[in-house]
Amino acid sequence: MNMQGLFAILFLCFVTSSQADPIFDVLKYGASGNGQTDDSQAFMKAWKDVCKATKGYPTLLVPKGRTFVLQPMVFQGPCKAPSINFKIQGTIRAPRGISSWKWPSSDRNTWLQFEYIKRLVVDGRGVFDGQGAPWWDCFKKSKCQRPRAISFHACEGLRVNRVNVINSPAGHICLSSCNSSVVSNIHLRAPKDSPNTDGLGISESSHVTIRDSTMEVGDDCVAINGGSYMNISGIFCGPGHGISIGSLGSGGSYGAVEEVHVRNCTFTRSSNGARIKTWEGGFGYVRKVTFEDILLKDVQYPVLIDQHYTAYTAADNKKAIKISDITYRNFRGTSTLEEAVKLMCDNAVGCTNILLDDIKITSSDPKMKTKATCSNAHGKSSASNIPQVSCLLK
Ligand SMILES: *[C@@H]1O[C@H](CO)[C@@H](O)[C@H](O)[C@H]1NC(C)=O
Ligand SMILES: *[C@@H]1O[C@H](CO)[C@@H](O)[C@H](O)[C@H]1NC(C)=O
Ligand SMILES: *[C@@H]1O[C@H](CO)[C@@H](O)[C@H](O)[C@H]1NC(C)=O
Repeated sequence: MNMQGLFAILFLCFVTSSQADPIFDVLKYGASGNGQTDDSQAFMKAWKDVCKATKGYPTLLVPKGRTFVLQPMVFQGPCKAPSINFKIQGTIRAPRGISSWKWPSSDRNTWLQFEYIKRLVVDGRGVFDGQGAPWWDCFKKSKCQRPRAISFHACEGLRVNRVNVINSPAGHICLSSCNSSVVSNIHLRAPKDSPNTDGLGISESSHVTIRDSTMEVGDDCVAINGGSYMNISGIFCGPGHGISIGSLGSGGSYGAVEEVHVRNCTFTRSSNGARIKTWEGGFGYVRKVTFEDILLKDVQYPVLIDQHYTAYTAADNKKAIKISDITYRNFRGTSTLEEAVKLMCDNAVGCTNILLDDIKITSSDPKMKTKATCSNAHGKSSASNIPQVSCLLK
């Protein structure tokens, strides 16, 4: 080999080793991964090192073939490196019974919270198991307060790819103040009758992409509670309560959602498909929303706007969240209830510029027909739609 070749190889070695991404394996920090021992301390130590690492792409590794039990904890930033990887290949499990959950503070909203971390990447094909069953029973018996499984707060540029979250006590994943995030190829699963086990909840976030994911849960598959510029595509939802905007405006509050585009999604035996729900007495708006290329299999309410989602008695009865510029296009499939299209708007505020085009929703029962009902809804519907939406006001 000539000198040039040798230099080239030495140079390559140097570059490769200096760029090697530091890996912080929780086993090296004393985690047992035996599915019994509390591994929280080891995770916290590993996280501290990941978060202060400065070189490369620091990775916290949760190795495969093992189950780690974690108490509620906060993975907090800001971190030093420009991007951090939380690689979950094995299983992370919540404590088994409610009394074995140990809360570090009075805040009991979340099992695992990630906050103030820029460009966090959570991936690895592993499982977060929220051990929700005792919490669901407790809620059914005595309405007890339940934590969500995973929250991301103020995590700009977040990527969540190829992870599973199962059996959360309440909502599975929640994003708040996480602009420019992408959630893809995730699988969320809880029994159909588990109470309020939302799949993915989003608030105060803009430019979010959610794609190619499966959500089989006891409440909304995706719930958008505030934010803008979101693209949602390739979602399989059901069982569950559909892809919902809202509920917004609870207790007379402000809510705003705009520029949400839902495309190429499949709803199977879900209670709703495309739903917008707002409370009486709230204020703000939902506008510029499209739902298109939607497949429905035995869905109860494929198209639903409910501007009276919950009555609010203290409310100024002239107030409601304004709903406008909503498009439904290319819906195909079946509905188990007669009212396949249901647009229930407030008589003072109403819904405007509601457009339905290329809709073909027939009844799951071949002997039945579907129909549309409206109150105070304004817009247009193509003449060829099934069902006909002649109740829309011009
Ligand atoms: C997130 O996006 C919203 C709307 O685009 C913007 O008002 C807000 O400042 C952004 N937040 C951050 C932390 O960049
Ligand atoms: C959403 O989709 C639209 C149209 O396909 C595209 O122009 C826009 O950049 C997308 N937004 C995000 C945040 O990906
Ligand atoms: C629709 O979503 C499915 C499931 O993720 C995907 O395989 C398919 O390529 C998507 N089709 C289009 C046209 O985007």
